[in-house]
Amino acid sequence: MKPSVLFVLSWTCLCALLPLTNCEEKRIPEEKLLVVTVATKETDGFRRFLRSAKRFNYSVKVLGRGEKWSGGDYMSAPGGGQKIRLLKAALQEMTSEDRIILFIDSYDVVFASGPKELLRKFQQAQHRVVFSSESLIWPDRHLEDKYPHVREGNRFLGSGGFMGFLPNVKQMVSNWTGGDGDSDQLFFTKIYIDPAQRKSINITLDSKCRLFQNLHGALDEVVLKFEDGRVRARNVQYDTLPVVVHGNGPTKLQINYLGNYIPNAWTFETGCTVCQENLRPLSALKETEYPLVMIGVFIQQPTPFVSVFFERLLKLQYPKNRLRLFIYNQEPHHEQQVSSFLQEHGGLYQDVKTISPEEETDSTASRDLAFHLCREDKDCDYFFNLDVEVVLKNEDTLKILIKQNLPVVAPMLTRPGRLWSNFWGALSADGYYARSEDYVDIVQGRRVGVWNVPYVSGVYLVKADLLRSELKDYDLFTSQTTDPDMAFCHNVRTKGIFMYVTNVHTFGRILSTENYQTKHLHNDLWQIFENPTDWEERYIHMNYSRIMKDKLIENPCPDVYWFPVFTDVACKHLIEEMEHFGQWSGGGNKDTRIQGGYENVPTIDIHMNQVNFEKEWRKFLVEYVAPITEKMFPGYHTQAHFDLAFVVRYKPDEQPALRPHHDASTFTINIALNQVGIDYQGGGCRFLRYDCSIQAPRRGWALMHPGRLTHYHEGLPTTDGVRYIAVSFVDP
Ligand SMILES: *[C@@H]1O[C@H](CO)[C@@H](O)[C@H](O)[C@H]1NC(C)=O
Ligand SMILES: *[C@@H]1O[C@H](CO)[C@@H](O)[C@H](O)[C@H]1NC(C)=O
Ligand SMILES: *[C@@H]1O[C@H](CO)[C@@H](O)[C@H](O)[C@H]1NC(C)=O
Ligand SMILES: *[C@@H]1O[C@H](CO)[C@@H](O)[C@H](O)[C@H]1NC(C)=O
Repeated sequence: MKPSVLFVLSWTCLCALLPLTNCEEKRIPEEKLLVVTVATKETDGFRRFLRSAKRFNYSVKVLGRGEKWSGGDYMSAPGGGQKIRLLKAALQEMTSEDRIILFIDSYDVVFASGPKELLRKFQQAQHRVVFSSESLIWPDRHLEDKYPHVREGNRFLGSGGFMGFLPNVKQMVSNWTGGDGDSDQLFFTKIYIDPAQRKSINITLDSKCRLFQNLHGALDEVVLKFEDGRVRARNVQYDTLPVVVHGNGPTKLQINYLGNYIPNAWTFETGCTVCQENLRPLSALKETEYPLVMIGVFIQQPTPFVSVFFERLLKLQYPKNRLRLFIYNQEPHHEQQVSSFLQEHGGLYQDVKTISPEEETDSTASRDLAFHLCREDKDCDYFFNLDVEVVLKNEDTLKILIKQNLPVVAPMLTRPGRLWSNFWGALSADGYYARSEDYVDIVQGRRVGVWNVPYVSGVYLVKADLLRSELKDYDLFTSQTTDPDMAFCHNVRTKGIFMYVTNVHTFGRILSTENYQTKHLHNDLWQIFENPTDWEERYIHMNYSRIMKDKLIENPCPDVYWFPVFTDVACKHLIEEMEHFGQWSGGGNKDTRIQGGYENVPTIDIHMNQVNFEKEWRKFLVEYVAPITEKMFPGYHTQAHFDLAFVVRYKPDEQPALRPHHDASTFTINIALNQVGIDYQGGGCRFLRYDCSIQAPRRGWALMHPGRLTHYHEGLPTTDGVRYIAVSFVDP
């Protein structure tokens, strides 16, 4: 027998034995393969499909572009007759006998590998036509008995993907006379279950998902396999690596999830394909050419650090004359902050619209209205949603998001030290939060990229084009059953629009609005427990962290340490809070305890407990003072207990000075709250035993000294203005 004859009979078996070149002769060349798909609309899913096809160099022919889709709702089966009609017509124009046609859906399909592997697997199937398989029968359950049995794998045919030689595929669709709305799957099923036709066209099923993976009914079988910097979807039931992955039926979100990884969309080194493609950088534009963005600010509940929010809004890097503001405020408590921001800076923006609490517009209606204003204005290019509890630390956020050039994209925000974020990785069956496998890795930054997700909130950028096309319904946020943010995301998903979250940069965090009291003047001072990071940024001196690192601590008198601890804002808020409360104790009302007894050393003061600030003050001492005490006085440990902590006011005509005394503390903290030379003259502290004075106290700096026995001291007279200090006797 001549080797070539043997080869034809059983080339696959021999391939392993023969030199490679012989096998390659028999391989179907990649140019023979043509991918044919029907897409009447350029959905995000379709663009993803093309991206993956391009990545592997598939040649793709798209049918039906611009045609009205009449083959049923493209988000759901059945239907699909239109696909066969278009395919049949397209095939009539093709002649090449050895052409291989891969006919697949595209809105919910991604390629996981290239033509070479696909053709090899096709050849190994040893049939002229190979259909994808499914474990669930559809659309006619009564046909089950007619299906041939398979030894292993799925028994049923899926019409979302098949491949075959041109003549055989032509033959298969030649008798199609159905309507556009008829089921393509039923048509092919009937051919397949007819033994004569099955044989004559020479059809088989890819039962073990070597070529095609339909996800419906198979979610438990499919896992992501990370290896050597590559990602593949693997069918663990049949131990196969499918080439085409199809999120058919109700598995749209799963294909979105897998599409984040295949084809290798994500890697640390190169970022991800979605991050890199179709970017819209602004750098080449003049500022006057920047896209016009409407920023929607929503204040829906009493929220801490609102004035800081507006400070950051002002610092957002973007030409202000290309920004319009829509500010919705439901809270009377925040009216003053909104109006003072607008008074000072409103004029910088191209336009400002506000909805105040008196208008009694509910928050859902305000969101619908804000979108509508952008939608109706043809100049509006983007809508940027910014809820007030969002702490956007990255001033370039807006530019970064515009550059991504995606339909809906959110910067990832988290709550410090928690797994809270402004996106969901997955949805539960009833449409609520579910944790995706990669959620924690994304939140904690172990996986970095631009992620297709089913839900974003708080801050996101929407292309205004979408508001004038797919998202043109007025009431996107309105729902009888769910919250406005969920209703919006639901609408976006149902329209087949992709939402992304990016963690390629660090953007910021989300405030907790729980336990926010509004009964004080500066309520943010009370946020040390609920929002410690924001509290620290607002109130702890910028050089505090350098005390240990750079030894930024002074030692002006023996065992007296001097270090920066409060920001100017902290000092100002504390003074204003005390003046607002106003019940300064008069001389003689208060005893200062000394060394186990009482001595009447009266000051004009207000105690932290009088303004319900003692818990917060102790937390401050524990977090920010105790570590320094323990460093400077080695071997001493403090729990930062105190029973006296108060703000003292010195005035020439009230109480200018304090006579020499001991403090009833193990150590004392004395923080200057205002500035000598500006707010007052004189003042300071003298330690008599050492004849050593600190005469120019610095605002926000703390003096720390032992209380009993050695550091007998006096308050030097304030000669003009008003001086404030915050004093704590620690570990009495
Ligand atoms: C695709 O084609 C380009 C140019 O023809 C080539 O450089 C690239 O390596 C090909 N990619 C694959 C995955 O075959
Ligand atoms: C089906 O096609 C394969 C590969 O082309 C061939 O080997 C086989 O004989 C065909 N089967 C029938 C029943 O024609
Ligand atoms: C097409 O119809 C003809 C005539 O009814 C029939 O003989 C043939 O088997 C059919 N072929 C296919 C592929 O359905
Ligand atoms: C922090 O330290 C730097 C460098 O010594 C100084 O320039 C800066 O003014 C300090 N910041 C404040 C708020 O005092």
